[in-house]
Amino acid sequence: MNDVIEDWEPFYTATAGSPVRALCLLAIDAAGDPGGRLAVDLGAGAGRESAALLAAGWRVLALDGAAGAHLRIEASVPPADRNRLSVAEQSFAALDELPEAGLVYAGYALPFQRPEVFARTWSLIRGALRPGSGAILAVNLFGPRDTWADDPELTTHSLEEARALLDGLQILALREQEREGVAVTGPKHWHELDLLARA
Ligand SMILES: C[S@@+](CC[C@H](N)C(=O)[O-])C[C@H]1O[C@@H](n2cnc3c(N)ncnc32)[C@H](O)[C@@H]1O
Repeated sequence: MNDVIEDWEPFYTATAGSPVRALCLLAIDAAGDPGGRLAVDLGAGAGRESAALLAAGWRVLALDGAAGAHLRIEASVPPADRNRLSVAEQSFAALDELPEAGLVYAGYALPFQRPEVFARTWSLIRGALRPGSGAILAVNLFGPRDTWADDPELTTHSLEEARALLDGLQILALREQEREGVAVTGPKHWHELDLLARA
C-alpha cells in the first residue's frame, strides 16, 4: 500500500475485542433510520465499525488499503449481514470517486495520508454528502501537537482548519483533546480532533 504505515497487523491485534468507537455510535444515532442508505467506512481496519453499521441496518462500503482488508473485514461481519457489505481494498491515494452516502465515517484513518492526498480525499468525501440530505460525517483528525505531526506522510489540522473543512455543513460536534497515552508503536502525545457534522 502506498502512503501509509506499512504494517497495521499489530494495531489489529492490539485492538481486537475493543468496543465500537464512540464517534461511530454517535454518527449512527445522529443519522437516524438508514432506510436503505449507504454508509462508507474509510480506513475500516478490522471491520468493527463496519459490522456495527451493518447491525444498525446500513448498507456499507468499507474501504481500507492494508493487504488482506477483504478477508479481515468480511470475517468481522456476521454471514447474514454480508450481502449489505462491499469492501474496497485500496489506498486513499488510489480513490477517484465515492458514491453518495447517508453516513461517512473515518475512524483514526484520514491523517495517514500526505496533505495533497488528504485534500483530494476530502473533496471526494464532501462530494458524497449531498447538501440538505441530512447525511452524517464523522471523522477523527490529528492536531499539530500530536507526536506524529512531523511525519510528512501524515496530515494534521488545527481546530480552525478542521472547522473550515466542515464549511457548509451543520457542525454537531467539534471536539479537541490532548493527552499522554500509548499507541501500538509506544508512548505518544495524542492531539485529536473529533468531527461530527450533518449535510
Ligand atoms: C488506526 S487504524 C483505524 C482502524 C479503524 N477505523 C479504527 O478506528 O479502529 C487505520 C486504518 O486505516 C487504514 N489506512 C491508513 N492509511 C490509509 C490510506 N492512506 N489509505 C487507505 N487506508 C488507510 C489502515 O490500513 C488501517 O486499517
